[in-house]
This record gives sequence, C-alpha cells and structure tokens, in this order.
Amino acid sequence: MTSCRVCNNSIEPFMTFGAMPIANGFLKEEEFEDEYFFEMEVAFCENCGSFQLVKQPDAKRMFHENYAFFSSLSKYMQLHFKAYAELVIDRVFTGRDDPFVVELGSNDGIMLSNFKEAGYRHLGIEPSENVADVARSHGIDTLSEFFNLELAERLVAEHGHADAVICANVMCHIPDINGVAAGMAKLLKKDGVLMFEDPYLGDMITKTSYDQIYDEHVFIFSATSVAWIFDKHGLELIDVLPQITHGGSMRYVLAHKGCHEVSANVAELLENEQVQGLHLAETYEQFKCNCETSRDALFNLLERLRNEGKRVVGYGATSKSTTVMNYSGIRPEHIEFISDTTPIKQGKFSPGVHIPVKPYEDFKKNPPDYALLFAWNHAAEIFENEQSFKANGGKWITFVPKVEVIE
Ligand code: TYD
Ligand code: ZN
Repeated sequence: MTSCRVCNNSIEPFMTFGAMPIANGFLKEEEFEDEYFFEMEVAFCENCGSFQLVKQPDAKRMFHENYAFFSSLSKYMQLHFKAYAELVIDRVFTGRDDPFVVELGSNDGIMLSNFKEAGYRHLGIEPSENVADVARSHGIDTLSEFFNLELAERLVAEHGHADAVICANVMCHIPDINGVAAGMAKLLKKDGVLMFEDPYLGDMITKTSYDQIYDEHVFIFSATSVAWIFDKHGLELIDVLPQITHGGSMRYVLAHKGCHEVSANVAELLENEQVQGLHLAETYEQFKCNCETSRDALFNLLERLRNEGKRVVGYGATSKSTTVMNYSGIRPEHIEFISDTTPIKQGKFSPGVHIPVKPYEDFKKNPPDYALLFAWNHAAEIFENEQSFKANGGKWITFVPKVEVIE
C-alpha cells in the first residue's frame, strides 16, 4: 500500500514494468557495472484521477549537468514552440504593459527565444546546467534551479508577478505537484494565465503507448486530474487544447478562479474522459493486458527477424525506448545499433539493455533491412526524410498503436 502523490489516498500499483534504468541515462561501457535500476510500478488514484509512478528515482539522477535531452534538434518541434509562444503573446500579452513570462523547464531556450526576439521580459527556470548554458549563450535569461513555492516567492520579490507561466513536457516530471501548483498560484498575476502541455492519458490508453511511462514522467495527466490538482490551489481550468506532439498531448490553460471565461472545451473533454472510462480501474486492467500483448508481439517479431538473419536498427534513442526495450526483453542481438542525431548520446550505450548508439551517418551509410521507429512521435518528419530508405527496400517497424511492419 502506498499513498497518492496528489491527494494522499491509499493506492495500489496495477502493474509493473520491471526493473528500469534511468530513461535518458545513456552510458559508457565502464559505467555498466554501477548502473542504477528501480522497480517501475504504476498506479491510478480513483479519488483524484491521477495516473502516477509509485516510485521515482531521485531528481539528481535524472536531471544534471549531462542531461542528454536538447529540445531544439527537431525542426517540427521548433515550429510547434513558435506557435505556442505566438498563442501566449496573442491570447495573454495583448493590451498588457511590459508583460512578463516565466517558463519552467525551459531547456535550451527553444520556446523563450520567440519571446526574446519579440522583446518581451522573460525568465527560464532550468535545473539541468548544460542545457541552461546553451540558452544563456543565446541571451535567454535562465536560472538553474528547481521550481517550488519558495522560488516563486523569490521571483515575485525580484521580478514581480508573471502575466504568463508556461511549460511543455515539464509539469508531468514534477513529483511535488502540490508544491508547484502552490508556487504557480503565487507567481501568477491576478489575471495571469498558466499554460502547460504534457503527454495525454487519453491518448496513451487509446494507443497503448506505454512508452510514455518512464522515470521522468511521474504523472500522465488527464483534464480530470489537472482540474483536481489545481483547484486545491485556487486555479481553474479555462481551456484545453489537444496537440499532436509527443504522440498525443494536451495543453491545459489555467487561471485564478473566476478571472477568465471558461471555454466549452473544458466540459466537453471532462465528459469525454468519463465516456472513455479514464476514472475506472477496469480501464487500467485492460491497458495492462494491451501492454503485455504489445510487448510479446514486438519481442516475437524481433526474435523471428534475428532467426532470419535480418539487420534491425533502432531509429531515435528516445527516453521512451528505454521502457520498450527493458520491458519487452529486447537484447543487443536483436538490434545492431540505435541511430540518433544527438551528439551527447552517440558512442554511448542505451540504458539497461546496452545497445550502441551511433550517429545517423551510420544508418545512412549502411541502411538495415528494418528500422525500428523508437521516435514514433516524429513519424511524419522522419518518413518524409527517409523516402529513399523505403524506396530501396527498407522496412519500418512501429509499435504504436500496434506492432506492425510497414513495407
Ligand atoms: P523525443 O521525441 O524527444 O523522445 P523522448 O521524449 O522519448 O526522448 O526524442 C527523439 C530522439 O530521436 C532524439 O534523441 C533525437 C532523435 N531523432 C533522430 O535521431 N532523428 C530524427 O529525425 C528525429 C526527428 C529525432
Ligand atoms: Zn489521488
């Protein structure tokens, strides 16, 4: 028995993914021996609707000076964040005098650069020093700290209240969500707006995209759970905007209660979540069965290809792939290497399973028979760029929403 991170209700894990390493912990051979693992169990709280990890490794094991994730590598994501920033400027900043935006988990400044270029007051909060340094080198004001109520108070004293607080793929990383929500309520102006987006529980359940579950994602949110969490801190959901990024995300718009009009989208999505059964334990029992089916199908396919002597290469050393490979029992003999464009990952090995990560040029030079699409959330961009791979007989393996070979 354990207690819900949001409401303290007692909860039980409904499934385990087994021993998991740090999802972004790409490592060198000499580090194999000391690799850290934790039991990755998940639970659903029927009281507040929060889908959560039961245990999460210490934050310092995940976010540090060697954090291997740089947001600005994907062109599509750059456009996505530009549009996000434009929405904030249009919807929140219009008509305000010298507005101020704070971003949590601002990474290398991919989103804030849009505010900086437009001349707005901005501040990024980014605990991973290496990515924060990249942002600073581009002139984006960035503080390397973890956000909480105390930091919110300090920010208000130093900069004043924020007109907008924004984040993307950050809120679901924060175990002390109540502390952060209290900090948000403190930091926001009376008529300020909070916007954040994260992988959406409804999509994960529909697509069996269980690879959204890994150490960093302590929560997979729904509108129901977000409304519950922030209500306790005086903030209400005023809009919800579905996004295609990260395989299906939701952008939540919140504000101090009664200060802004509430969009009809909110009631509609809350209703859809009831229809989908996101509040029911049986939905998660079914999800568990679907995960097992997906896991077995992927393992069996890779076993068959190995027996047939086919070459399989992973495409994209994603954090998500750590869950897929470790949960499915994939071994180095199944996958020759993983191709990835991120320099800090290249020359290292994947967490837990220890498959070598190589530069994209290696994929280009010697294309495999099959490319296993770990970066399935970027499928549109990747398929567009890899038309010659397919034209030359290369096949794709995808596993979301189901395990499939695309010829
Ligand atoms: P990302 O989508 O952020 O997934 P996660 O959140 O699970 O880590 O990461 C995509 C990874 O794939 C990143 O390491 C860069 C890599 N990548 C390529 O190697 N080639 C590509 O064309 C794209 C789009 C991504
Ligand atoms: Zn709860």
